[in-house]
Amino acid sequence: MSERGTDPTSEPSESTGETPDSRLLVVLHGVNLGLLGERPVIHYGRVTLPELEAIVCEEARAHGWRCECHQTDHEGEFVQLVHAGRHADALLVNPGAWTHYSYAIRDALELVTGPVAEVHLSDIEGREDWRRVSVVADVASVRMAGRGPDGYREAVRALVELVESGDAGTPKEGS
Ligand code: DQA
Repeated sequence: MSERGTDPTSEPSESTGETPDSRLLVVLHGVNLGLLGERPVIHYGRVTLPELEAIVCEEARAHGWRCECHQTDHEGEFVQLVHAGRHADALLVNPGAWTHYSYAIRDALELVTGPVAEVHLSDIEGREDWRRVSVVADVASVRMAGRGPDGYREAVRALVELVESGDAGTPKEGS
């Protein structure tokens, strides 16, 4: 398996399969999230990225979905991962600090055909003022913050519900 995040065309870090025609959840983590477990515990807890990916994929599998996870510290690579995953059944993203200023990632997420969940481990509304701004919020059908790994599980359940009920969620602006 290739090193996580170095090549958008590489094998994902966590990939689980039901049948080839199972629905697919793509999970993308952005900058600095590869070091979960070392980051301030007060905000992010002690969970590591591999543990978090396993939690998310376990929830997806419980619904009969396949799950594919990637992490990168390179913004352009994150954009390419969004492009590559844009026709998955759903995307779950935690862009890390890019959440607060990357219009490039926001514009890439606008191209995603299924619902997008924006998830943060910490409570971005209750921290510094600059973290209250999310430039990806308007292209997300599901938003979770401050719930730690439980928020990820809930986001997966919400995405599954949106897709399986045939309700694509809040229409993205301009669509
Ligand atoms: C984060 C919140 C961001 O503000 C921060 O830059 C991160 C992680 C979270 O999961 O709480 O890197 O997205």
